[in-house]
Amino acid sequence: MDIEDVRSDLSEVLFTEKQITDRIAEMARDIERDYPKGDVLLVGVLKGAVILMADLARELKFHAHIDFMAVSSYGASTQSSGVVKINKDLDTEVAGKNVLLIEDIMDSGLTLSWLVNNMMARGAASVEVCAMFRKPEAVKIPVEVKYVGFDIPPAFVVGYGLDYAENYRNVRGLGVLSPHVYEGADPHA
Ligand code: PRP
Repeated sequence: MDIEDVRSDLSEVLFTEKQITDRIAEMARDIERDYPKGDVLLVGVLKGAVILMADLARELKFHAHIDFMAVSSYGASTQSSGVVKINKDLDTEVAGKNVLLIEDIMDSGLTLSWLVNNMMARGAASVEVCAMFRKPEAVKIPVEVKYVGFDIPPAFVVGYGLDYAENYRNVRGLGVLSPHVYEGADPHA
């Protein structure tokens, strides 16, 4: 979907598809510089990272090896160390490999903090993070994000993998969801 298709649900368009695509190309050049042999495993965190993974992997000029995990986190907004549960694990052995975690967004940092530690505990040779969006004002657990697309305000954003009640993930671009869409509902549902 184009962002204009859901424009009436958004209070603001933050990034167009072109702005995101251009930024991904810059991030890909940085990743190619840092892994000149292409010896890195891209680990996407379902579901939101699917869109970034598809765009970033195709932009890279080496044979990108990819795998996915699905996790659920609890208590991210109220605790400094929440519980993260693995719903789908990797198919790939990461011991001795360079891992690059691919996320659509870093919000509190809980998910990425846990994942970085989890990859290290499995014996990864290195672990870095690539996130398309980051909310600096929402961070509760600082995580070094080596490749970040854009810093954004702590608003309820949708599009480019990010959903509200499973909608908007396939919107090309990122926007702020208008309160009238979730009035009366739990915005984190
Ligand atoms: C979102 C996002 C990150 C996480 C970031 O996933 O994709 O994984 O939240 O939040 P944090 O920094 O506060 O941990 P979500 O749990 O909504 O799952 P989804 O990708 O399937 O929508």
